[in-house]
Order: sequence, then C-alpha cells, then structure tokens
Amino acid sequence: MLNSDKPVYILGIETSCDETGAAVIKRAQNGQGTILSNIVRSQLREHEAFGGVVPEIAARAHIECLDRLIDAAMRDAGMEFTDLSAIAVTAGPGLIGGLLVGTVTAKAIGMVHDLPVIPVNHLEGHALTVGLTEGIDPPYLLLLVSGGHTQILAVHGVGKYQRLGTTLDDALGEAFDKTAKLLGLGFPGGPQVERWAEGGNWNRFPFPRPMLGRPEAHFSFSGLKNALRLQASKIAPLHDGDIRDLCASFQLAVTEAVSDRIKTAMNAYIGMHPDRAAWRLVAAGGVAANKALRSALMNLAQERGFTLHVPPVALCGDNAAMVAWAGAERFVRNLPYERDFSARARWPLDDNAPRTIGAGVKA
Ligand code: KG4
Ligand code: ZN
Repeated sequence: MLNSDKPVYILGIETSCDETGAAVIKRAQNGQGTILSNIVRSQLREHEAFGGVVPEIAARAHIECLDRLIDAAMRDAGMEFTDLSAIAVTAGPGLIGGLLVGTVTAKAIGMVHDLPVIPVNHLEGHALTVGLTEGIDPPYLLLLVSGGHTQILAVHGVGKYQRLGTTLDDALGEAFDKTAKLLGLGFPGGPQVERWAEGGNWNRFPFPRPMLGRPEAHFSFSGLKNALRLQASKIAPLHDGDIRDLCASFQLAVTEAVSDRIKTAMNAYIGMHPDRAAWRLVAAGGVAANKALRSALMNLAQERGFTLHVPPVALCGDNAAMVAWAGAERFVRNLPYERDFSARARWPLDDNAPRTIGAGVKA
C-alpha cells in the first residue's frame, strides 16, 4: 500500500541554525497540506551581542527549549504521538551541535513510540514549501536565498534537484548581514537593511553588479560588500541619509545582479522543460522575504512568461512546518532513507554538482 492512500500526520523538528522549531502538519490523500501547529523560537537575543550566530550558544539554546516546543506543538495540533505517521527532522546542512540536538530528540521519540524518523535536508524544506502553502508541485525553477545558501536549482521532482548556480563566496543573506553590521544596524541584517533602504536614493552609489552576463548562473557578493565598505569609509562620518542611500544602492545592486543570474538560469531551465506549464519561478529562504527582491522577481517572471510563487514571509525563514512537509512528501512516495542516519554539517541538494572554485563549503 502506498503511504498516500490515507492522510498522513507528521511532526517536524528544526534545529539547524538559530531557530528552534516544532510543527505538526497534515497531508491529505489529494496532496493538500495543512499546518496544524507551527512553533518557532528565535535565538535572536542570545546571539545579538555577538553580531552573528555562535554555534555553542545555539546548540545549548536548542537543548533548553526543544522538549517544551514539541509538547506545545503536539498540544496545539490536538494530537498524541501515537496519532503520528512519522517524525521528520532536519539532519543537515547546518551547525552540527544544533543538528545533533534535533536528530537525537527525534530518534528518541521515534524509538519510544515506534515511529519512522525521516532525515530531511533543510534546503529541501525551503525548496518544497510552496507545495504546502500553494499546492505547487515540481517541476519549477527555484531561487534559494538564505543566510547560509544562495543557489538556483531546477526542481525536477521531490528529491530530484539540479543545481544551475551557486555563490562563489558569501551567501546573499550573509551579504545583507555583513552590510548591516558594517553600518551598525543590528542583527539579523536583512530586515534592517530593507527598512533603511526605504526612502533612500537607489542611484547615489553605483555599486558593481557582480557576475553580470556570465554564462553560468553563479553568484558572487564579496566584491559588492567591499565596494560598500570602501564607499562608507570614504564618506564617513555617516549621517542617517547616507545610511539610507547606501542600503538602497546596495539593495538595487543585489536585485539587479540576482535578476541577471536568474535570466541565465531561466534559459537553461526552458531547455529542460519546454512546456510552458512548467515555467514557474519559486523563491524561498529568509532573503525571499525582501520586498524589493520579490518585486524584481515578479517583473522578471512576467517579462519571461513565468509565474512567481513565494511562501508567506513567516514561512520564508526557518521553521519546522517546512521540514514536516518535506518529510511528508518523502513519506508518501516511499522514498528510501537511512534509518540509522547521522547529522551532516554539509549536505548538498544536488550531489552531482561540481564544487565551484573558491566556493568553500557553501557550494
Ligand atoms: O532561511 P533563513 O531564516 O536561515 C538560514 O537558513 O540561513 O535566512 C536568514 C537570512 C538572514 O541572513 C537574514 O538577514 C535574511 O535571511 N533575511 C533578509 C530579510 N529577512 C531575512 N534579507 C533581506 N531582506 C529581508 N527582509
Ligand atoms: Zn534556512
């Protein structure tokens, strides 16, 4: 019997970075997803003073609250563990301490209640979220932009990912965070830079548009970051108006660079999926919350005959509902998984993608 012959109920657990998440979702026989509960506890306060995520503090903070969060998620959903079909847990990529907290907890609950425990790739959680929120099934072209990852992937099916582009240096969220740090705007930087950019002069500083026109859909943000740093020190001391203009000019450079890279990826994707019904662009990950980026993607999609699909802001950032959903999609398809799996700090979605020169661990 296929696991999709009846509704499935999945508990999801997310601990890969600085958000602890527990959620319960239902996947009906017809593939429709419903979030029954979704609790996210951000560790913002624990890391704020350091201007970035401190791995040991993150792992400890996950330990301190994960049990309570799971209890609360089960209670909110009105469910007992015995009502569940399976548990899905982020097993990578991410900070190894946090991943261990989540995977060990999931395995313990699975053992006690005799439930399957499905290891989920965090990036697959982001990649499949539009299936939960809008019922959008692959194939589609995916822009995945978060604090640790910046990739364009052709999503051919659940579990079938082809990387078309990746960053050679910083992730896009990281570029936002570093810009905010440099300008003293606080952490996490993305929302701060976006706020300061409102009302700023987009054209005051002609920052570089990295990788423009290159044949592959790769990204690079370290040159842009440096250009901003040099510009900021040239006009220091910075007044509020300068900060607004720097943020606005940075955001424009980013959106133009990303749009150019997506155009390149769209050409490759159309070659793989000539049927116009497959011409869908999905954006996911924390940076997909950025309104300037969303509107640039909307224009680009319309220009090229694609539809655009972006999860609601609350589901763009890290959460356990997306992990539960990815687990459900795997569970109903009976996709194989390792029962005695280990947490993996590095876990590319496309195992066949070559490492790009200079890309470090982020490829
Ligand atoms: O997906 P996510 O919550 O965590 C990771 O898996 O990394 O993404 C977090 C990243 C951070 O770098 C944050 O600054 C960025 O997403 N971000 C934004 C916005 N909201 C969050 N970047 C730009 N504009 C935003 N509105
Ligand atoms: Zn994420």
